[in-house]
Amino acid sequence: MPNIFSKKSINEIFKDERVLYPEFLPERLPHREKEIESLAFCFKPVISGKKPVNAVVLGSSGTGKTVSSKFVLSQLEEFSSRTKSLYINCFEFNTRNSVLIQIANFVGAAIPRRGLATDEIYSKMLDYVKKCNFSPIIILDEADQLVLKEDGSKLLYDLLRIIEFEKIHFGLILISNNFLILSKLDSRVKSSLASETIVFEKYSPGQLKDILNERAVMAFFDLVLDKDVINVAAARSAKLGGDARIGIESLLKAGRIAEKENSKKVSLSHLKQAFSDMDSAILSKTFPFLSDQEKILLNLISVFDGVFSGDLFEKYSKTQEHLELRQFRATLSKFESMNLISAPLLDKKPKGKSRFISLKVPKDSLMKFVKQKN
Ligand SMILES: Nc1ncnc2c1ncn2[C@@H]1O[C@H](COP(=O)(O)OP(=O)(O)O)[C@@H](O)[C@H]1O
Ligand SMILES: [Mg+2]
Repeated sequence: MPNIFSKKSINEIFKDERVLYPEFLPERLPHREKEIESLAFCFKPVISGKKPVNAVVLGSSGTGKTVSSKFVLSQLEEFSSRTKSLYINCFEFNTRNSVLIQIANFVGAAIPRRGLATDEIYSKMLDYVKKCNFSPIIILDEADQLVLKEDGSKLLYDLLRIIEFEKIHFGLILISNNFLILSKLDSRVKSSLASETIVFEKYSPGQLKDILNERAVMAFFDLVLDKDVINVAAARSAKLGGDARIGIESLLKAGRIAEKENSKKVSLSHLKQAFSDMDSAILSKTFPFLSDQEKILLNLISVFDGVFSGDLFEKYSKTQEHLELRQFRATLSKFESMNLISAPLLDKKPKGKSRFISLKVPKDSLMKFVKQKN
């Protein structure tokens, strides 16, 4: 019998699949020109040795917040040796101490991971920031993971104290998909840590098409994608929250399925298989861990898919006794971070701002999953 590895596999699908990986940083970011310019304007002062303007970047997931912020700072570093930036994801570093240690080590203090009290870490960090021969700029991504906790608001005061030193040019970008973080900041923190707010709107189907097209040209060999693969992937990402991540991931998955089948082309049926794999992955990671109450709310969202949060709360209150608005909101945030729903804040006239809730996992996938589990 021939060795199982002896079968020649010629890769006819991907020219370079790595450009579809989540960590890939593209050199061009179509449809984010305005946002990039606003961010660049905030940090431009450090080039001439002045204080930067700190920014808060808000928008639902997959709107390019992380990639645009990293892009601007890497361009800035490339242009000027006066600055360096540090990226911190608050899912990973979710305590005040761990973030302070990251920053302290970034500016040159060699701090052990354990053993020092917060005050000691802070004062070491400050010493080194003062001595630093560059302006440090820190990105706190997924900042709500930290800022909405008490520990995190203390951290913001730590950072505020550094920023308020006259001679220190320390910059900060807070990124979040949770608009509530702004209301959690008090006015002193807001005016200094969040002087500029940049909102990333959801991508339209046309914009997603452009983004996916550019990526596909780098990722796939010519003529490998069947007609309409990009259009269908873009339409789906638009429908599920204007989220570019969904489109890019679906192209990667579809390509791999085609490759496994030794197909020379990526067809719509490969793409649909990829969609269904992605839905099952999200649902099997989240659904079994939801409480009965949460499942009822998710079900209600699937029935009224595309609903303002106030109206949803009214409907949900009818099914639940003693329901608190706070708990309802917390559950929506949880669903959002689980990627089950998108919930951007919209202007709802005449009542003011409200969240617009829609499913990020198509209704039929959800229903199939619910049935399987019962
Ligand atoms: N304008 C754009 N052009 C090219 N790729 C983009 C653009 N916006 C987002 N992406 C890609 O989409 C994915 C999600 O973007 P990301 O910045 O992680 O979103 P967010 O941080 O808002 O959740 C990443 O793979 C990113 O490279
Ligand atoms: Mg992000």
